[in-house]
Amino acid sequence: MKFFVDTADVKEIREINDYGLLDGVTTNPSLILKSGRDIKEVTKEICSIVAGPVSAEVTATEYSEMMKEAAVLAKIADNICIKLPLTLDGLKACRSLTSEGHKTNVTLCFSAGQALMAAKAGATFISPFIGRIDDTGADGMELISEIRTIYDNYDFKTEILAASIRTVNHIKQAALIGADVATVPPATLKALVKHPLTDKGLEQFLADWAKTGQKIG
Ligand code: E4P
Repeated sequence: MKFFVDTADVKEIREINDYGLLDGVTTNPSLILKSGRDIKEVTKEICSIVAGPVSAEVTATEYSEMMKEAAVLAKIADNICIKLPLTLDGLKACRSLTSEGHKTNVTLCFSAGQALMAAKAGATFISPFIGRIDDTGADGMELISEIRTIYDNYDFKTEILAASIRTVNHIKQAALIGADVATVPPATLKALVKHPLTDKGLEQFLADWAKTGQKIG
């Protein structure tokens, strides 16, 4: 499973990238707002930190305007992935951009039918929003499972990018189902390494080691 980080905070991106764990980044208009920075400037900096795909989202809702914005975003760096909303205009733009050789991420996916449409439009990634579905009382993971089945049935190459991840359990469940990518907030990604027994065991080993009076090297 590939790990993307879901943020436009360059400090957090640098830290996680330094651990060697990062395969890409996703941003959205809300995350750009949170960063307090200019979209082109911050996206360019992110693209210089991470070698993998960096999703930058269009904000137009009409096809030709989306295409104009996509052209601006695509110029920022070679590893830009154009993020488009799951609308008919978004899918049309996805088909055009894919044909032009751009990477695309179709976002705001809440149903398996929508995911099928995105795959037909040639999306590089489909982003089903797990957490937001859970918030409605439904099961976001069920959607990941349905999309996996449909994509495997027809051998669609579109990668399932599990998004709106809120917990480490979401990451584990998405991995068990076979999502190709998880895009995760930095704190949740770092929490994935934590286990109380690891901390307890390490504490014990260090205490015993101190008692030996030895040093390695
Ligand atoms: C995905 O690309 C989105 O940016 C993100 O995962 C949305 O998550 P949220 O529901 O926590 O805002």
